[in-house]
Amino acid sequence: MNNNIDENISLLKDGLKTKWLAKNIIYLPTVDSTNQEVKRIASTHPHGTVVIAEQQTAGKGRLGRVWSSPNGTGLWLSILLKPEIAPNQIANITLVCGLGVCKAIRKHTGLNALIKWPNDVIIGNKKICGILTETTVEANRISYVVTGIGINVNTTEFDNDIKHKATSLSIESGSVINRENLFKEIMFTLEKYLDNYFSNPNDGIYEEYTALCATLGREVTVSRGNSTFNGKAVTIEATGDLIVELANGTTEIVSSGEVTVQGIY
Ligand code: BTN
Repeated sequence: MNNNIDENISLLKDGLKTKWLAKNIIYLPTVDSTNQEVKRIASTHPHGTVVIAEQQTAGKGRLGRVWSSPNGTGLWLSILLKPEIAPNQIANITLVCGLGVCKAIRKHTGLNALIKWPNDVIIGNKKICGILTETTVEANRISYVVTGIGINVNTTEFDNDIKHKATSLSIESGSVINRENLFKEIMFTLEKYLDNYFSNPNDGIYEEYTALCATLGREVTVSRGNSTFNGKAVTIEATGDLIVELANGTTEIVSSGEVTVQGIY
């Protein structure tokens, strides 16, 4: 992409095969966080609006972490969703998006991208994509959902604090990836998975998600408040929760908190 905002929006829209997702694109050379920008414009913009930035100066990760978003190297974008679903069905949007992004990356690059529960996309034992979903609920009704997606596309170097756990599509593939084309593939695939989920939230994505989930079958450590426990990740429930089997044979339902997977960052 270049310095001309209209041209960049055309590059992102040209050949885009979606029905509602990313029909409205806000492209910004720089922003604090695309999730924050979506929140600022949510009341005046339609379902499916995408805010995409060349760089973020205050990119946010899960659990209050910083998301490094250097200029021109990645896809840093957030989607505004105004779905007609119950608040308790929101959690799975994040899994649905993780699956959609993972599938699109696999198709576009041929790389063996997998999912680290709940929604990191990894290659080998390193992360290439993180997703941060934020929701506003009023009177038990969802006002809107912001799904922020960060993908390290053409990053060649990472800061010291993340270099052991982060990688990019170009590092893994050995070639420069066209970000606009990848964007279009991701939007197309995500729309398909979101449409399925919104029209039938109970149908689940279980089989496809499970097939690509690198966490299952591995030893994990779960941090919950001040305590931690170890076990083996055995299944994912229809609710999106992770079931962890402890050494004594009992199981724990993990719906939040941080899971560290042995062998993956
Ligand atoms: C994580 O794995 O911790 C989630 C990272 C989410 C990063 C993306 S980049 C686009 C959007 N804007 C943000 O500030 N965060 C998300």
